Amino acid sequence: MAATKDIFSAIVGAEHVLTAERLATRNPGYCADAMGAAVLVRPANSAELSSVCKTADALGIGLVPHGGLTGLVDGTRSHPGEVIVSFERMSRILDIDPLQGVAVVEPGVTLETLQSELEPLGLMTGVDIPSRGSCTIGGMVSTNAGGIQVLKYGMMRENVLGLEVVLADGRILDLTNTLVKNNAGYDLKQIFIGSEGTLGLVTKIVLKLWPIPASACCAMLACDDPEVLPALFDKSRRNFGADLMSFEAMWPEYYDVTTSQPGFGRPPLPSGHGIYVIIELCGQSDAETEARLVAFLEPLLDDRTIADAVVAQSGSERNAIWRSREDSDAVDSVLGASLSYDVGLKLADLTNYAVRLRKRCTVKSTDIVPYIFGHVGDGNLHVMFAIHDGDLGRREIFDGLVYDTLAEFSGSTISAEHGIGLEKRAVLTRSLASNTLATLVELKKALDPCNTLNPGKVIAADE
Ligand code: LAC
Ligand code: ZN
Repeated sequence: MAATKDIFSAIVGAEHVLTAERLATRNPGYCADAMGAAVLVRPANSAELSSVCKTADALGIGLVPHGGLTGLVDGTRSHPGEVIVSFERMSRILDIDPLQGVAVVEPGVTLETLQSELEPLGLMTGVDIPSRGSCTIGGMVSTNAGGIQVLKYGMMRENVLGLEVVLADGRILDLTNTLVKNNAGYDLKQIFIGSEGTLGLVTKIVLKLWPIPASACCAMLACDDPEVLPALFDKSRRNFGADLMSFEAMWPEYYDVTTSQPGFGRPPLPSGHGIYVIIELCGQSDAETEARLVAFLEPLLDDRTIADAVVAQSGSERNAIWRSREDSDAVDSVLGASLSYDVGLKLADLTNYAVRLRKRCTVKSTDIVPYIFGHVGDGNLHVMFAIHDGDLGRREIFDGLVYDTLAEFSGSTISAEHGIGLEKRAVLTRSLASNTLATLVELKKALDPCNTLNPGKVIAADE
């Protein structure tokens, strides 16, 4: 271990190589074992990272990249013998070009930092996620983050125009395109987006920027029958077109937990309904946007498609509506630790999936309660289960409930948004056709023959 420290100190400087004692005091984020490696290095730039990679490759040392540590699939877990690469010193915003509509940033910039720099310019990122205060742009690229306005702006894949990437052997690939249209050859950057640091480490990102809408207005609606959800979404999409920013849903168990936390205040709508929906709309002025929303909701209230609705009249009402949906940490803090899933289904299957999952849970045991919510517009449901007494032994039971139910729906996916990490690797392996899996393994071997980049995450190199 002492030798490893010295080797990397020669590259990044001794003060930027942290060992076990310091690592024990660092926040591991959402993966309790993120700091399992005894060494962490903090390169200052691509050149240093290139040397780190080259050295690790030559010595067969696994490198585990760390961003904001908000990933939910154990992609940041590290083991003794591996070395963590932290991007905390590579956190500069290098350029913001409003005319071209791009920001060029280093991977360690947090989403919120970039958002605050962009706001005075009337600009924003297309992807926004609840962990914005800690998550980094590099982490968002490597996990292809999605979030709450994917239906309008897409996921990271649709928002990254260019990248600089350090490969396992230390080569630096310059893929820093700023053009919206660039069809010159393979779109190489896409294989690094969403590959969770297993094919290359991203060191620079060219991100597409969007104008902040002149106005945004949100409403919460409650329906007694969740079955109306797909039709309600379709109606909203047809009615609002490109102005529909978000269409999110919460099943009652989830809504009751997030709104009953101490300090939440009065829930936006009373408890007791079958499903809660948040619609966010953008437009030219607050009055116009609100009027469109009200005109849409009124007939639905009249014909009882929806049982209740509230349109946010102030920033604090808007925040309360969004907090009820975004604060999934409440499931942990109110109920103890939790496990979280993020399945994807065809829109026509979404509510049926929830019905069948809830039934399967009840049959298994009356104390297994799925907390279901998600991004309906993207066909992406999150399911959380409280783990009483930290009993991870029940993971297999929860996996069975979630994935056996999912297998009943063709065209579904085991991960719509959070990725694979270590947590879902076995499930991914089972769910891929064998020649698809073999092709992924070939790609990994071609780019990382010594298996040093985030080893074991997404796929096993010997699969
Ligand atoms: C969310 C996270 C769990 O949508 O993906 O809140
Ligand atoms: Zn999500």
